[in-house]
Amino acid sequence: MHDKILILDFGSQVTQLIARRIRESHVYSEIHPYDVDEVFIREFAPKGIILSGGPNSVTEAGSPRAPQIVFDLGVPVLGICYGMQTMADQLGGKVELGLLREFGYAEVRAHNHTSFLNDIEDFRDADGHGMLKVWMSHGDKVADMPAGFRLMASTPSCPIAAMADDERRFYGLQWHPEVTHTVQGRAMLDRFVLELCGANPDWEMGHYIDEAVDKIREQVGDEHVILGLSGGVDSSVAAALLHRAIGDQLTCVFVDHGLLRLNEAEQVMSTFADHLGVKVIHVDASAEFLSKLAGVSDPEAKRKIIGAEFVEVFQAEANKLTDAKWLAQGTIYPDVIESAGKGKKGAHTIKSHHNVGGLPETLNLKLLEPLRELFKDEVRELGVKLGLPPAMVYRHPFPGPGLGVRILGEVKREFAELLRRADAIFIETLRTTIDQETGKSWYDLTSQAFAVFLPVKSVGVMGDGRTYEYVVALRAVQTLDFMTAQWAHLPHELLGHVSNRIINEVRGINRVVYDISGKPPATIEWE
Ligand code: XMP
Repeated sequence: MHDKILILDFGSQVTQLIARRIRESHVYSEIHPYDVDEVFIREFAPKGIILSGGPNSVTEAGSPRAPQIVFDLGVPVLGICYGMQTMADQLGGKVELGLLREFGYAEVRAHNHTSFLNDIEDFRDADGHGMLKVWMSHGDKVADMPAGFRLMASTPSCPIAAMADDERRFYGLQWHPEVTHTVQGRAMLDRFVLELCGANPDWEMGHYIDEAVDKIREQVGDEHVILGLSGGVDSSVAAALLHRAIGDQLTCVFVDHGLLRLNEAEQVMSTFADHLGVKVIHVDASAEFLSKLAGVSDPEAKRKIIGAEFVEVFQAEANKLTDAKWLAQGTIYPDVIESAGKGKKGAHTIKSHHNVGGLPETLNLKLLEPLRELFKDEVRELGVKLGLPPAMVYRHPFPGPGLGVRILGEVKREFAELLRRADAIFIETLRTTIDQETGKSWYDLTSQAFAVFLPVKSVGVMGDGRTYEYVVALRAVQTLDFMTAQWAHLPHELLGHVSNRIINEVRGINRVVYDISGKPPATIEWE
């Protein structure tokens, strides 16, 4: 059993980061909704509890509160932003409605040498006080601390910027230690988790393999498992882990919809079937997919067709494997948290995502999700430890509908072929162009990069002749969470080189443009 930190989520955009930071310090943590019941919290047996930030105001009637048990359990509690405010309110302090929002960088002064901040500082001010560079995002603020608390930090505009009750080990921070803009954020979370909670830093991917293997074996026994392998990181790592655990009891079904990248199907087959010895059924369904997509140009209609066809092909294969009792999926922790939050926020559907997940219940298979507890970076680390090629594990994400959403309008085999070649040139150049300043390749300096096929023709001149051919757009973005993204400022020489190569080598394309839209308002994919 690992020591665990419980994070109660009040709806902040960055709650996930708290869990990630803590896991990076090798302590296991989970996020749950703020209103979980007392029995759950007792059974979870946390070494410490963190109350996240959130969009509400404590001063509003009916705004969320932490369950009382949080303060009665006798474990350290850290309230962050809204978490601090509700802690103050629930323990008898006072929170004031903010008229102005404070957003962004701030310098706070530490007070009273509390055990939380002792020896953590960025610099000293002119009077010799310890100062911290932090990131704030709040409107309301604590006006009176509850009995037993001492002031831990302040700013001129936020006199109670942090508070501490060292006896009960309750702490409140108005700023966000989980974001990297708070320079000592990691030190603060480490102080809380490792020292004040005394959690054992035993969460490690190397050990996790053994644990996960035992768990899978116990769950599955001698039954058979099928898994839809897409070539993406999550399903690949799930396949490698399951193969390690149950060997031949695993059969992977790799549905090739004809909308993959250049040589992708061969790479998947060589990595899994040839190299790792995994049983993989390769279904070339490109003809079916393309015929269903013929004449369809609406993006949502295309996504729905690809999703539905995928399920159909997979199901047909699954039905042939009469032994199979389990369906494995590469669901990862952010998917779990996101779907738990769904409906609550009433978010709009911008695009209907298709993943290998979401296969129908009519398969009558039990669900196996061996990566359910892991964040993406943990999944990658696990993949490398399991022997997958780092280049595969650290690949940019690729959408389930593949080139189907990168060929604008109607999808045709001929367009897919042109796009695949243009895209491969772009990616190869990003991989081989090293940025002098960082020593990293531009592939590693971008979060996602690809080419998009535009079904419009423009006039060009090549040699002595006029051309009238298609356009390709290049897209490269930098982002941490894919919710917002900036277009990457790729060097002009790199862009020029890619453009020349595409136009010279891919007959049928005579113009290349670069997409300089941020998200929002644009999305990362064009459809
Ligand atoms: P957008 O275009 O919404 O993309 O800004 C955000 C991220 O999601 C990926 N994406 C998908 N991934 N199935 C997936 O598995 C999909 O249907 C899908 N659509 C978009 C996109 O590549 C980007 O990383």
